[in-house]
Amino acid sequence: MTVLVTGGTGYIGSHTCVVLLENGYDVIVADDLSNSSEEALRRVERITGKTLTFYKADVCDRAALDRIFEANKIDCVIHFAGFKAVGESTQKPLEYYDNNLASTISLAKVMSEHGCKRMIFSSSATVYDGRNVPSPFSETDRTGNCTNPYGWTKFMNEQILRDWAASDPGVSVVNLRYFNPIGAHPSGLIGEDPSGIPNNLMPYISQVAVGRRDHLNIFGNDYDTPDGTGVRDYIHVMDLAEGHLKAVEYAVSHTGEEVFNLGTGTGYSVMDIVKAFEKASGIRIPYVIAERRPGDLAELYSDPVKSKKILGWEAVRGLEEMCRDTWNWQKNNPNGYEG
Ligand code: WQD
Repeated sequence: MTVLVTGGTGYIGSHTCVVLLENGYDVIVADDLSNSSEEALRRVERITGKTLTFYKADVCDRAALDRIFEANKIDCVIHFAGFKAVGESTQKPLEYYDNNLASTISLAKVMSEHGCKRMIFSSSATVYDGRNVPSPFSETDRTGNCTNPYGWTKFMNEQILRDWAASDPGVSVVNLRYFNPIGAHPSGLIGEDPSGIPNNLMPYISQVAVGRRDHLNIFGNDYDTPDGTGVRDYIHVMDLAEGHLKAVEYAVSHTGEEVFNLGTGTGYSVMDIVKAFEKASGIRIPYVIAERRPGDLAELYSDPVKSKKILGWEAVRGLEEMCRDTWNWQKNNPNGYEG
Protein backbone atom coordinates (compact mmCIF):
# COMPACT_ATOMS: atom_id res chain seq x y z
CA MET A 1 0.00 0.00 0.00
CA THR A 2 1.16 3.55 -0.80
CA VAL A 3 0.63 6.42 1.65
CA LEU A 4 1.06 10.08 0.70
CA VAL A 5 2.33 12.07 3.70
CA THR A 6 1.87 15.82 3.30
CA GLY A 7 4.22 17.76 5.59
CA GLY A 8 6.30 14.61 5.89
CA THR A 9 9.59 16.46 6.49
CA GLY A 10 8.19 17.93 9.70
CA TYR A 11 8.51 16.69 13.27
CA ILE A 12 5.52 14.31 13.50
CA GLY A 13 5.51 13.64 9.76
CA SER A 14 9.09 12.36 9.65
CA HIS A 15 8.56 10.05 12.63
CA THR A 16 5.38 8.73 11.00
CA CYS A 17 7.31 8.03 7.77
CA VAL A 18 9.74 5.86 9.78
CA VAL A 19 6.89 3.79 11.22
CA LEU A 20 5.12 3.44 7.85
CA LEU A 21 8.31 2.32 6.05
CA GLU A 22 9.16 -0.12 8.84
CA ASN A 23 5.70 -1.64 8.46
CA GLY A 24 6.01 -2.26 4.75
CA TYR A 25 4.18 0.75 3.33
CA ASP A 26 5.48 2.67 0.32
CA VAL A 27 5.76 6.33 1.29
CA ILE A 28 5.48 9.47 -0.81
CA VAL A 29 6.15 12.84 0.85
CA ALA A 30 4.86 16.19 -0.41
CA ASP A 31 6.26 19.19 1.43
CA ASP A 32 7.06 22.80 0.48
CA LEU A 33 9.98 22.89 2.96
CA SER A 34 8.71 26.28 4.22
CA ASN A 35 9.22 25.23 7.84
CA SER A 36 11.39 22.10 7.65
CA SER A 37 14.43 20.51 6.01
CA GLU A 38 14.70 17.80 3.36
CA GLU A 39 17.58 16.43 5.46
CA ALA A 40 14.93 14.87 7.69
CA LEU A 41 13.97 12.52 4.85
CA ARG A 42 17.57 11.45 4.31
CA ARG A 43 17.68 10.60 8.02
CA VAL A 44 14.39 8.67 7.72
CA GLU A 45 15.93 6.59 4.91
CA ARG A 46 19.07 6.04 7.00
CA ILE A 47 17.03 4.83 9.99
CA THR A 48 14.85 2.45 7.97
CA GLY A 49 17.26 1.39 5.22
CA LYS A 50 14.40 2.06 2.80
CA THR A 51 13.77 4.76 0.21
CA LEU A 52 10.80 7.07 -0.15
CA THR A 53 9.62 9.42 -2.91
CA PHE A 54 9.75 13.17 -2.28
CA TYR A 55 7.95 15.96 -4.12
CA LYS A 56 8.70 19.57 -3.18
CA ALA A 57 5.18 20.93 -3.44
CA ASP A 58 2.72 23.36 -1.88
CA VAL A 59 -0.38 21.38 -0.95
CA CYS A 60 -2.49 24.40 -1.92
CA ASP A 61 -1.23 23.96 -5.52
CA ARG A 62 -3.86 21.72 -7.10
CA ALA A 63 -1.88 21.27 -10.32
CA ALA A 64 1.10 20.02 -8.35
CA LEU A 65 -1.12 17.64 -6.37
CA ASP A 66 -2.71 16.45 -9.62
CA ARG A 67 0.71 15.55 -11.02
CA ILE A 68 1.53 13.54 -7.90
CA PHE A 69 -1.74 11.59 -8.09
CA GLU A 70 -1.34 11.11 -11.87
CA ALA A 71 2.12 9.62 -11.35
CA ASN A 72 1.33 7.38 -8.36
CA LYS A 73 -1.41 5.05 -7.18
CA ILE A 74 -2.05 6.44 -3.70
CA ASP A 75 -4.17 4.36 -1.29
CA CYS A 76 -4.30 6.72 1.71
CA VAL A 77 -3.20 10.24 2.64
CA ILE A 78 -1.93 11.49 5.99
CA HIS A 79 -2.30 15.27 5.97
CA PHE A 80 0.18 17.04 8.28
CA ALA A 81 1.04 20.05 6.10
CA GLY A 82 -0.07 23.35 7.59
CA PHE A 83 1.02 26.38 9.60
CA LYS A 84 1.07 25.54 13.30
CA ALA A 85 2.32 28.38 15.47
CA VAL A 86 -0.42 29.46 17.89
CA GLY A 87 0.98 32.93 18.56
CA GLU A 88 1.77 33.63 14.88
CA SER A 89 -1.79 32.63 13.94
CA THR A 90 -3.11 35.49 16.06
CA GLN A 91 -0.85 37.96 14.21
CA LYS A 92 -1.49 36.47 10.73
CA PRO A 93 -5.04 34.99 10.84
CA LEU A 94 -5.74 35.39 7.09
CA GLU A 95 -2.58 33.52 6.11
CA TYR A 96 -3.50 30.74 8.54
CA TYR A 97 -7.09 30.39 7.28
CA ASP A 98 -5.96 30.62 3.66
CA ASN A 99 -3.13 28.12 3.89
CA ASN A 100 -4.57 25.61 6.37
CA LEU A 101 -8.08 25.45 4.89
CA ALA A 102 -7.23 25.83 1.18
CA SER A 103 -4.62 23.06 1.40
CA THR A 104 -7.10 20.65 2.94
CA ILE A 105 -9.85 21.48 0.43
CA SER A 106 -7.46 21.22 -2.55
CA LEU A 107 -6.15 17.91 -1.28
CA ALA A 108 -9.59 16.40 -0.73
CA LYS A 109 -10.78 17.55 -4.16
CA VAL A 110 -7.77 16.08 -5.97
CA MET A 111 -8.08 12.88 -3.93
CA SER A 112 -11.73 12.55 -4.95
CA GLU A 113 -10.90 13.13 -8.62
CA HIS A 114 -8.34 10.33 -8.46
CA GLY A 115 -10.48 7.91 -6.48
CA CYS A 116 -8.31 8.13 -3.36
CA LYS A 117 -10.81 8.36 -0.52
CA ARG A 118 -8.91 7.70 2.74
CA MET A 119 -7.52 10.59 4.75
CA ILE A 120 -5.95 10.79 8.20
CA PHE A 121 -6.01 14.41 9.38
CA SER A 122 -3.57 15.95 11.85
CA SER A 123 -5.97 17.65 14.22
CA SER A 124 -5.29 18.88 17.74
CA ALA A 125 -6.62 18.88 21.30
CA THR A 126 -6.82 22.63 20.86
CA VAL A 127 -10.23 22.08 19.20
CA TYR A 128 -11.75 21.20 22.60
CA ASP A 129 -13.61 24.02 24.34
CA GLY A 130 -11.07 24.00 27.13
CA ARG A 131 -12.38 27.20 28.66
CA ASN A 132 -15.72 25.57 29.46
CA VAL A 133 -14.98 21.84 29.56
CA PRO A 134 -12.66 20.34 32.19
CA SER A 135 -9.97 17.73 31.43
CA PRO A 136 -9.77 14.83 30.78
CA PHE A 137 -11.16 15.40 27.30
CA SER A 138 -12.99 12.59 25.50
CA GLU A 139 -13.91 12.70 21.81
CA THR A 140 -17.56 13.48 22.60
CA ASP A 141 -16.67 16.60 24.61
CA ARG A 142 -17.67 19.97 23.27
CA THR A 143 -15.36 21.54 20.71
CA GLY A 144 -15.06 25.10 19.41
CA ASN A 145 -14.68 28.38 21.25
CA CYS A 146 -11.03 28.07 20.18
CA THR A 147 -8.60 30.57 21.69
CA ASN A 148 -6.66 31.25 18.46
CA PRO A 149 -6.97 31.10 14.66
CA TYR A 150 -4.65 28.09 14.48
CA GLY A 151 -7.06 26.12 16.70
CA TRP A 152 -10.01 27.31 14.60
CA THR A 153 -8.33 26.03 11.41
CA LYS A 154 -8.08 22.57 12.99
CA PHE A 155 -11.72 22.80 14.09
CA MET A 156 -12.84 23.91 10.60
CA ASN A 157 -10.73 21.33 8.78
CA GLU A 158 -12.29 18.58 10.89
CA GLN A 159 -15.74 19.84 9.85
CA ILE A 160 -14.78 20.16 6.16
CA LEU A 161 -13.57 16.55 6.15
CA ARG A 162 -16.59 15.35 8.19
CA ASP A 163 -18.89 16.86 5.53
CA TRP A 164 -16.79 15.36 2.72
CA ALA A 165 -17.18 11.92 4.31
CA ALA A 166 -20.93 12.45 4.77
CA SER A 167 -21.29 13.33 1.08
CA ASP A 168 -19.58 10.22 -0.30
CA PRO A 169 -20.09 6.74 1.22
CA GLY A 170 -16.73 5.66 -0.14
CA VAL A 171 -14.80 8.22 1.91
CA SER A 172 -12.98 7.37 5.13
CA VAL A 173 -11.70 10.22 7.33
CA VAL A 174 -9.87 9.81 10.64
CA ASN A 175 -9.45 13.04 12.60
CA LEU A 176 -6.59 12.55 15.10
CA ARG A 177 -6.51 15.01 18.02
CA TYR A 178 -2.92 15.23 19.26
CA PHE A 179 -2.10 16.38 22.76
CA ASN A 180 1.50 17.45 23.39
CA PRO A 181 4.03 15.53 21.29
CA ILE A 182 7.61 15.51 22.60
CA GLY A 183 10.65 13.25 22.33
CA ALA A 184 12.47 11.88 19.29
CA HIS A 185 13.34 8.64 17.53
CA PRO A 186 15.79 6.73 19.81
CA SER A 187 18.51 6.88 17.13
CA GLY A 188 18.78 10.64 17.72
CA LEU A 189 18.81 11.13 13.93
CA ILE A 190 15.40 12.86 13.71
CA GLY A 191 13.63 15.14 16.16
CA GLU A 192 11.89 18.46 16.70
CA ASP A 193 13.66 21.32 14.93
CA PRO A 194 11.56 24.48 15.33
CA SER A 195 12.64 27.53 13.33
CA GLY A 196 13.34 30.64 15.41
CA ILE A 197 12.46 30.86 19.10
CA PRO A 198 10.62 27.67 20.12
CA ASN A 199 6.97 28.24 21.05
CA ASN A 200 6.69 24.90 22.82
CA LEU A 201 8.08 23.88 26.19
CA MET A 202 10.26 20.86 25.42
CA PRO A 203 12.25 22.25 22.48
CA TYR A 204 12.86 25.39 24.52
CA ILE A 205 14.17 23.31 27.44
CA SER A 206 16.42 21.25 25.15
CA GLN A 207 17.83 24.43 23.58
CA VAL A 208 18.64 25.74 27.08
CA ALA A 209 20.36 22.43 27.83
CA VAL A 210 22.48 22.60 24.67
CA GLY A 211 23.42 26.23 25.36
CA ARG A 212 21.36 27.97 22.67
CA ARG A 213 19.06 29.68 25.22
CA ASP A 214 20.06 31.26 28.51
CA HIS A 215 17.15 30.07 30.65
CA LEU A 216 13.57 28.85 30.51
CA ASN A 217 10.70 31.28 31.13
CA ILE A 218 7.92 29.49 33.00
CA PHE A 219 4.67 31.14 31.96
CA GLY A 220 2.97 31.46 35.31
CA ASN A 221 3.08 29.40 38.51
CA ASP A 222 -0.22 30.59 39.96
CA TYR A 223 -2.56 28.23 38.11
CA ASP A 224 -4.97 26.01 40.02
CA THR A 225 -2.71 22.94 39.59
CA PRO A 226 -0.64 20.89 42.08
CA ASP A 227 2.49 23.05 41.75
CA GLY A 228 0.88 26.11 40.13
CA THR A 229 2.40 25.53 36.66
CA GLY A 230 0.47 24.40 33.58
CA VAL A 231 -0.43 20.72 33.22
CA ARG A 232 -0.40 19.00 29.81
CA ASP A 233 -0.66 15.50 28.32
CA TYR A 234 2.82 14.90 26.91
CA ILE A 235 3.09 11.98 24.50
CA HIS A 236 6.21 10.45 22.92
CA VAL A 237 6.32 11.27 19.21
CA MET A 238 7.01 7.59 18.45
CA ASP A 239 3.77 6.64 20.23
CA LEU A 240 2.03 9.30 18.17
CA ALA A 241 3.57 7.93 14.95
CA GLU A 242 2.41 4.42 15.83
CA GLY A 243 -1.07 5.84 16.38
CA HIS A 244 -1.06 6.98 12.74
CA LEU A 245 -0.23 3.47 11.58
CA LYS A 246 -3.30 2.20 13.44
CA ALA A 247 -5.36 5.04 11.96
CA VAL A 248 -4.35 4.03 8.41
CA GLU A 249 -5.37 0.44 9.15
CA TYR A 250 -8.68 1.74 10.54
CA ALA A 251 -9.30 3.95 7.48
CA VAL A 252 -8.70 1.02 5.15
CA SER A 253 -11.32 -1.11 6.91
CA HIS A 254 -13.97 1.54 7.58
CA THR A 255 -15.81 4.38 5.83
CA GLY A 256 -17.27 7.55 7.30
CA GLU A 257 -15.56 9.98 9.69
CA GLU A 258 -14.16 9.10 13.12
CA VAL A 259 -12.31 11.12 15.76
CA PHE A 260 -9.61 9.79 18.08
CA ASN A 261 -7.52 11.36 20.83
CA LEU A 262 -3.80 10.59 20.71
CA GLY A 263 -2.69 11.23 24.28
CA THR A 264 -1.52 9.28 27.32
CA GLY A 265 -4.28 10.33 29.73
CA THR A 266 -1.62 11.51 32.20
CA GLY A 267 -0.99 15.19 32.90
CA TYR A 268 2.43 16.55 33.86
CA SER A 269 3.21 20.11 35.01
CA VAL A 270 5.93 22.35 33.60
CA MET A 271 7.97 21.70 36.74
CA ASP A 272 7.51 17.93 36.33
CA ILE A 273 8.95 18.24 32.82
CA VAL A 274 11.88 20.40 33.93
CA LYS A 275 12.78 17.95 36.70
CA ALA A 276 12.39 14.89 34.47
CA PHE A 277 14.55 16.47 31.78
CA GLU A 278 17.26 17.42 34.30
CA LYS A 279 17.26 13.83 35.58
CA ALA A 280 17.45 12.30 32.09
CA SER A 281 20.13 14.68 30.80
CA GLY A 282 22.11 15.38 33.98
CA ILE A 283 21.90 19.07 33.05
CA ARG A 284 20.40 21.77 35.27
CA ILE A 285 17.80 23.93 33.53
CA PRO A 286 17.82 27.48 34.92
CA TYR A 287 14.40 29.14 34.83
CA VAL A 288 12.54 32.28 35.82
CA ILE A 289 8.86 32.58 36.61
CA ALA A 290 7.32 34.89 33.99
CA GLU A 291 3.82 36.20 33.28
CA ARG A 292 1.10 33.80 32.18
CA ARG A 293 0.90 33.35 28.39
CA PRO A 294 -2.44 34.66 27.01
CA GLY A 295 -4.79 31.85 25.98
CA ASP A 296 -3.08 29.18 28.08
CA LEU A 297 -5.27 26.81 30.06
CA ALA A 298 -4.32 25.51 33.52
CA GLU A 299 -4.86 21.86 32.57
CA LEU A 300 -5.31 20.00 29.29
CA TYR A 301 -5.08 16.21 29.12
CA SER A 302 -6.88 13.37 27.36
CA ASP A 303 -9.13 10.44 28.08
CA PRO A 304 -7.48 7.96 25.66
CA VAL A 305 -9.89 5.05 26.18
CA LYS A 306 -11.58 5.24 22.75
CA SER A 307 -8.29 4.92 20.85
CA LYS A 308 -7.38 1.89 22.94
CA LYS A 309 -10.77 0.27 22.46
CA ILE A 310 -11.31 0.98 18.76
CA LEU A 311 -7.88 1.69 17.25
CA GLY A 312 -6.17 -0.92 19.44
CA TRP A 313 -3.55 1.72 20.25
CA GLU A 314 -2.22 3.23 23.47
CA ALA A 315 0.88 5.21 24.41
CA VAL A 316 3.55 2.93 25.90
CA ARG A 317 6.56 5.25 26.42
CA GLY A 318 6.95 7.12 29.71
CA LEU A 319 8.24 10.56 30.64
CA GLU A 320 11.81 9.42 31.30
CA GLU A 321 12.01 8.00 27.74
CA MET A 322 10.47 11.19 26.29
CA CYS A 323 13.14 13.30 28.00
CA ARG A 324 16.02 10.90 27.29
CA ASP A 325 15.17 10.74 23.57
CA THR A 326 14.68 14.52 23.35
CA TRP A 327 18.13 15.10 24.84
CA ASN A 328 19.75 12.41 22.65
CA TRP A 329 18.43 14.21 19.53
CA GLN A 330 19.33 17.71 20.72
CA LYS A 331 22.83 16.92 21.97
CA ASN A 332 23.68 15.19 18.67
CA ASN A 333 22.07 17.98 16.62
CA PRO A 334 22.68 21.22 18.58
CA ASN A 335 21.47 23.29 15.62
CA GLY A 336 18.88 20.85 14.34
CA TYR A 337 19.14 19.63 10.75
CA GLU A 338 21.10 22.62 9.50
CA GLY A 339 24.08 21.40 11.48
C1 WQD B 1 3.05 23.62 27.41
C2 WQD B 1 3.12 24.23 28.81
C3 WQD B 1 2.96 26.62 28.82
C4 WQD B 1 6.76 27.27 26.70
C5 WQD B 1 0.57 23.94 21.93
C6 WQD B 1 -0.53 24.18 20.94
C7 WQD B 1 -1.16 22.87 20.56
C8 WQD B 1 -0.09 21.93 20.06
C9 WQD B 1 0.95 21.71 21.14
C10 WQD B 1 0.18 22.05 17.69
C11 WQD B 1 2.12 25.36 29.02
C12 WQD B 1 4.33 26.16 29.31
C13 WQD B 1 5.67 26.68 27.31
C14 WQD B 1 7.68 28.02 27.48
C15 WQD B 1 6.34 27.57 29.43
N1 WQD B 1 0.54 22.44 18.90
N2 WQD B 1 5.46 26.82 28.65
N3 WQD B 1 7.43 28.15 28.82
O1 WQD B 1 0.43 25.39 24.63
O2 WQD B 1 -0.06 23.06 25.55
O3 WQD B 1 0.03 23.41 23.10
O4 WQD B 1 1.51 23.01 21.42
O5 WQD B 1 -0.67 21.23 17.40
O6 WQD B 1 -2.09 23.12 19.53
O7 WQD B 1 -1.54 24.96 21.58
O8 WQD B 1 2.13 23.52 24.43
O9 WQD B 1 4.55 23.40 24.81
O10 WQD B 1 3.52 25.65 24.19
O11 WQD B 1 3.12 24.70 26.47
O12 WQD B 1 6.15 27.70 30.64
O13 WQD B 1 8.70 28.59 26.97
O14 WQD B 1 4.41 24.78 28.99
O15 WQD B 1 2.46 27.71 29.59
O16 WQD B 1 1.66 25.30 30.36
P1 WQD B 1 0.58 23.92 24.53
P2 WQD B 1 3.41 24.35 24.91
